[in-house]
Amino acid sequence: MQIIIDSTAKCVNQAAEHFYALLRRKPDAVLGLATGSTPEALYGRLIAQYEAGYISFRQVTTFNLDEYVGLAGDHPQSYRHFMQEKLFDHVDIDPKRTHVPDGLHTTPENAADYDKMIGAAGGIDLLLLGIGANGHIGFNEPGSSFDTLTHIADLDESTRQANARFFASPEEVPAQAVTMGIHTIMQARSIILMAFGANKAQAVAAAVTGPVSSDVPASVLRLHPDVTIYADDEAAAGIKV
Ligand code: F6R
Repeated sequence: MQIIIDSTAKCVNQAAEHFYALLRRKPDAVLGLATGSTPEALYGRLIAQYEAGYISFRQVTTFNLDEYVGLAGDHPQSYRHFMQEKLFDHVDIDPKRTHVPDGLHTTPENAADYDKMIGAAGGIDLLLLGIGANGHIGFNEPGSSFDTLTHIADLDESTRQANARFFASPEEVPAQAVTMGIHTIMQARSIILMAFGANKAQAVAAAVTGPVSSDVPASVLRLHPDVTIYADDEAAAGIKV
């Protein structure tokens, strides 16, 4: 595991470099993507590089990590809507190659079909993760087993509260999400985790220096051969020497 600690802006630039390097080497790469506040600036960089003619998404396939159960793709708080607004609508990606779990039709029985789709696309080359203040990755909350495929997960109360900032009221935050499982995440060939802000410091420290344990789902990444963590100075406060 490589850990890069720098300003937020430099972390974003360096993470973006991973994407450029991959897309230059493999124009038909399969990307795993996250939503939330953390990746927004990175998506902005990717759009700028596309507009400048440096990269193309024409042959790229994407799989997002998760989606709220009960929200249609055109709901303003859905993760499909987020991705359209923050990235897909601004680049030359083929809409048919963009995948976000279906928040309306996924059932416990068919959720793992998403893993089959990822496999059929050749597997994820580069997966982007954020981290919850409680150490979650995707919506694999503390206590999630390490062997899960894509599934329907209950959101922790703390996660619902953290994400209430995007909704009109906290009660509107869905109680469940369809999420790639930890096994799904660990199958990606290369992983980037970005963590920004003081409220992530405890989770980053626990993930990087604590025991590998389902109590801190992000700690599982220490078992993966190719993970880079980009933490800004605030998020890295608990691991800086
Ligand atoms: C989002 C996701 C979540 C977020 C995490 C951090 O697709 O899977 O794990 O990455 O909750 O969210 P932000 O970036 O909003 O702090």
